Amino acid sequence: MGSEGTRQRTEVLFVDDEENILKALSRLFMDEDFTVRTAASGQAGLEILEASGSIGVVVSDHRMPGMSGVEFLTRVKERKPETLRILLTGYGDIATIKDALNKAGACRYITKPWVDDELVQAVREAVVRFELTRENARMAEVIRAQNEQLKEWNSQLEIMVQEQTIELTRQNEKLKALLQRERATIRGVIGALSGLIELRNKRVRNHSRNVAELACGIARAMKLPQADVETIMVASLLHDIGLIGVPDVMLLKAESEMNADEIAEFRLHPIRGQAAVDQIEDLRPVSALIRHHHERYDGKGYPDGVKGEEIPLGARIMAVADHIDSTMNPAKPRALEMVLADLRDRVNTEFDPKVVVHVPQVVRAYLERVAAKGGTAEVELLPHELKPGMVVSRNVTSGTGVLLLSQGTRLTEKNIETLCRMHRIDPSREGVFVWMNR
Ligand SMILES: [Fe+2]
Ligand SMILES: [Fe+2]
Repeated sequence: MGSEGTRQRTEVLFVDDEENILKALSRLFMDEDFTVRTAASGQAGLEILEASGSIGVVVSDHRMPGMSGVEFLTRVKERKPETLRILLTGYGDIATIKDALNKAGACRYITKPWVDDELVQAVREAVVRFELTRENARMAEVIRAQNEQLKEWNSQLEIMVQEQTIELTRQNEKLKALLQRERATIRGVIGALSGLIELRNKRVRNHSRNVAELACGIARAMKLPQADVETIMVASLLHDIGLIGVPDVMLLKAESEMNADEIAEFRLHPIRGQAAVDQIEDLRPVSALIRHHHERYDGKGYPDGVKGEEIPLGARIMAVADHIDSTMNPAKPRALEMVLADLRDRVNTEFDPKVVVHVPQVVRAYLERVAAKGGTAEVELLPHELKPGMVVSRNVTSGTGVLLLSQGTRLTEKNIETLCRMHRIDPSREGVFVWMNR
């Protein structure tokens, strides 16, 4: 079977022992679209068949000396089954016709003498059938080859995809590890920086960490997304980083004790902090919160005097946490209820009510955590808030200075009763200081 470009012209082989008939047939098919071949015997016909690759139709006489037509066609069938076979036979030779159809698998038989048109038509049809079959087979082969090729491409593609996937996964793992390292580095830097601020001043020791814990507690109570909570945590840890440029003596003063120049200098720290942190691209959201941690809800804060919702929520939360940690500082401890009452007084002026509303629950949990860590949470309570078992952290005196209990006393029902009675008669300006959970 030739390929498209080199396909050979179909040949039709006529076999007859009478030369005249072969000549007549050659003439009859002279102008057809196929090549006419002739053979004078079955044997000669078989030789041509072997030698040529494009005999599509064989037309054979039956009565020939040596090999009969049926025998010849039978052999053709054995050797080239795709060749279409037509038998020419005498009229009424039924046995021969049966043999031709059954043994030799002839597609037609034509009785002699033939009618030209009928014979031409039969041969043309056979040629068309042969060519169609050949074309079908060729197309089937092309499709099969293409399918093979596709299969191969597919499997190659699969291998490529697998390889790419493995490579991508590897790259991804590498990136993840890098990112984790980078994050760890940033966390380390943040920790180091916030530690640096705390080194400056004993008074603010742990301040950044306390503010971070309180602010994150409030942010979580407000159900902010985890990413925002993390931003608030980092901003809290670094919020006073701008104070690194402020002299030690100034850090020991409250703002009320500073002169105008000192106040102006002190009030630069949110801007300085922002400028320092802003250089780290990942910390941009953090730097905005640092800038605004001293803004007030009523717009009277600094550095920008923005108010209400214009202050980033994280900064509003940090402002509250910052204030709580300053007022609950162990150097000037106050009872939780007093801290909360003080906060309530500042709602709508300094602080956002939507933030402050979450404070009691957050601060209670915070104090419990501090106590559970064996921490030194000292709280100031009113006498009726005292419970047996609590340990007094400072000497307790009456309003006129009479010593009622000394530091370290573990409270009993009886001395609580005494304290309550004395509080009615000779009240102190302070509450009773006790260790939380000790
Ligand atoms: Fe500050
Ligand atoms: Fe602060």
